[in-house]
Amino acid sequence: MAVKIPMTSAEIRTRYLEYFVNKGHLKVPSSSLVPHNDPTVLLTTAGMQQMIPYFLGYETPPATRLASAQKCFRSTDIDKVGNERTLTFFEMLGNFSVGDYFKREAIGFAWEFLTQVINLPAERLHPTVHPQDDEAPVYWREVAGLPDEAIVRLEDNWWGPPGASGPCGPDSEIYYDRGIEHGCGQADCKPGCDCERFLEIWNLVFMQFYQDLEGLRKPLQKKNIDTGMGLERLALVVQGKESIFDTDMFHSIIDHFASLARTFYGKSVETDTSLRVIADHARALVFLAADGVLPSNEGRGYIFRRVLRRAVRHGKLLGLEKPFLSQAADTVIELMGDHYSELRSRRGLISEVLNLEERKFGQTLNSGLQLLNELLDKLKQHGQTVIAGEEVFKLYDTHGFPVELTQEIAAEQGFTIDTCGFEQAMQRQQERSRAANVFVQAQDDAPLAEILQLVGPTKFLGYDGITGSGKVVGLVVNGEQVESISAPQQALVVLDATPFYAESGGQIGDRGEITAPMGIFQVRDTRRPLKGLIVHYGTLAEGHLRVGDSVQSNVIEQRRQDSMRNHSATHLLHKALRDLIGPQVEQRGSLVEPERLRFDFACPRPLTQSELAQVDEQINRWIRADYPVHTKVTSLQEAMSSGAMALFGEKYDDLVRVVSMGSSIELCGGTHCTSTGQIGLYITVQEASVAAGIRRIEALTGRGAEAYLRRRNSTVEAVATTLQTTPDLLETRVSQLVQDLAQARRQIAQLQHDEALRQAESIARHTQEARGIPVVATTVHAPDDKVLREMGDMVRSKLSKPGVVVLASVLPERVAIQVSIDTALTKHGLHAGKIAALVGERLGGKGGGRPESAQGGGKNKAELGAALDLVAPYVKEHFQQ
Ligand code: ALA
Repeated sequence: MAVKIPMTSAEIRTRYLEYFVNKGHLKVPSSSLVPHNDPTVLLTTAGMQQMIPYFLGYETPPATRLASAQKCFRSTDIDKVGNERTLTFFEMLGNFSVGDYFKREAIGFAWEFLTQVINLPAERLHPTVHPQDDEAPVYWREVAGLPDEAIVRLEDNWWGPPGASGPCGPDSEIYYDRGIEHGCGQADCKPGCDCERFLEIWNLVFMQFYQDLEGLRKPLQKKNIDTGMGLERLALVVQGKESIFDTDMFHSIIDHFASLARTFYGKSVETDTSLRVIADHARALVFLAADGVLPSNEGRGYIFRRVLRRAVRHGKLLGLEKPFLSQAADTVIELMGDHYSELRSRRGLISEVLNLEERKFGQTLNSGLQLLNELLDKLKQHGQTVIAGEEVFKLYDTHGFPVELTQEIAAEQGFTIDTCGFEQAMQRQQERSRAANVFVQAQDDAPLAEILQLVGPTKFLGYDGITGSGKVVGLVVNGEQVESISAPQQALVVLDATPFYAESGGQIGDRGEITAPMGIFQVRDTRRPLKGLIVHYGTLAEGHLRVGDSVQSNVIEQRRQDSMRNHSATHLLHKALRDLIGPQVEQRGSLVEPERLRFDFACPRPLTQSELAQVDEQINRWIRADYPVHTKVTSLQEAMSSGAMALFGEKYDDLVRVVSMGSSIELCGGTHCTSTGQIGLYITVQEASVAAGIRRIEALTGRGAEAYLRRRNSTVEAVATTLQTTPDLLETRVSQLVQDLAQARRQIAQLQHDEALRQAESIARHTQEARGIPVVATTVHAPDDKVLREMGDMVRSKLSKPGVVVLASVLPERVAIQVSIDTALTKHGLHAGKIAALVGERLGGKGGGRPESAQGGGKNKAELGAALDLVAPYVKEHFQQ
């Protein structure tokens, strides 16, 4: 009999996409884990995220039926990872309808796919619906022939919005019955029960509302479908496995770690948990790094850091001492690289980032241990046995020290931790981060979206010049559309055509003036809040402005030209770096302003001085060669095959603009010089690290570079004059002066030491005695506390027998006291700290320290004699008993 081989997860993914393509859907690639154009959401958590502009009617979708396999990351349940079915990173299969089909078809497709394409037994599938949804049960009856009582109604069946506002609606979740043996045994066990029996596999969301920031829901103009099915869970069901980690998506990763730790999966609950944690986390880290997320202390970079730390901690529990993540990355890349080709092309970067951060965390662990030990010492001194929750949280949050480790070490030394206080501190932090993670896209954009819908995209005239005429097609004041404005008034102005460049691709927006028949609008900034819509931000300084007015626009020329020089130079810099270092130099960000340019790129190490010099020389050679700058609009495919450099993670349209100059070819919508000669001059002024694996170059061109050189030159001239030399001899002169200074410092130190010694000798000869013990209590000339301390020790060592030395020095601000006592006397309970306190108090200050050496002082100079007179009687009294 032939053994039935279960479908692989890759097959399931392919069949899903094929099925929906056959049903008229356009297959779209997964978007990046870093949400595009949406700074308010940290990471992509659902397939619908890239569809939001379509659902809200802001952008026209490429098709009204879409399907994808989307990379997703959810950190909410990170602490649960380690059980059998929770993941941080997962793939979501999804089909979407943008105002096309609705409930009936969505339910029909889902049922057909599950029962006919991947052949799941119908009797194990349990659809659930929202209690207020009367339509969905009708369709479930129709397509699946299910009686009404078989359809469970769950209050929880509602999805969205994904942030504080956005699209949402009731949903229908399909559960898979894994069998009674997985159940809790309760009589009312059914889909939605917390136990392991019913597993939710597919969520069909009937997206029909828009929820605003106040929680109010408005029906959407068009009803949409958003569905999501976790590929990993589906593989578990299809392959009949006990856990997600037994499926083909995970077992080679698990095996890799198990053999590294010389153990096996299934050995014990503890090792299995740790193996699952590092398997999930390694996968997540590889995908995050591939999408350009790098470790940092905030936002998504912090999530990366937390995941990595948790993985390393569990690695430690498994006995993995050496860095293991970057090697594991190879296993993940082997497994997933066919479908996600970015993993292969970014292999070098992924492994570099993991390696660096894992090593760094090794150090963090060590310094965390030190902090914890200091904390425990302090608590011991005060006789306490509980570590405050805030302290545990601080170790965890600020120093990245895992709580479990704090707990473990504390227990070894007889301490407990205040778990409750810790949880509270954690909760406060979560609330803070939730508040920071609001999804505020739609609100402010609503009036602009209406304008865009009404008048269509703005025509950009700025590639050909800096002036142009147009018509006012929209005015917005305080979030409301208006027909006219009167000066003075801040407003947003939309024209049908404009020469103003809107901030994008790193180049900042233009400034200038819009002149209307009756008014002048000063443009402070230009942006493109919605695709295709150019918006002028500024103030109407004079007169009136009305929708319908014909206007003349003038961009400030100097600023624009400076920006163009910097933008063209950025392209040359990108190319020069790639030529010199290699193709791994990928652009990670850029800022093009009139004053300067900034370019961030992936590179695991700093550039050497010589490399930086070569980059500058190359760029200036290209500038002098005066290559013409060509631009053309062409298909994305053609542009890519001509070798154009594109920005990773950027979502490009099918038609793209290609800018080339010399050997540099880039996809770019920015404004550029007409030939490289116009850049004039290029100078790198700084190269530094911005994050692990990312370097930043700041540079100047044209007027900025010229001014920089002039400033430098005059500084050099001024310094040379002060040092009575010429710029050419400056280096020799300065190194001579540095040497002279060092020598003079050494001489002063020696003189101070000699002087201290001389004083010490003479003082030691004039001791008093208290019960046969030599006591010195006198004033000396010491320039600072350090010399005073040395003198104290010197005098003590010069006494004929073990004694007590108290020296005072009058410093500009206060009187400083040093007390030094021979250890032969401290054994008898004499304590320098107590004497320092006694003398210090008399001086109106305080004192303290160790038994054999202590410091003190005060401001009350007049009491100095009396204060020193306290010493001998104190010693006498001490030895009286
Ligand atoms: N957006 C829905 C979810 O994430 C499908 O469950």
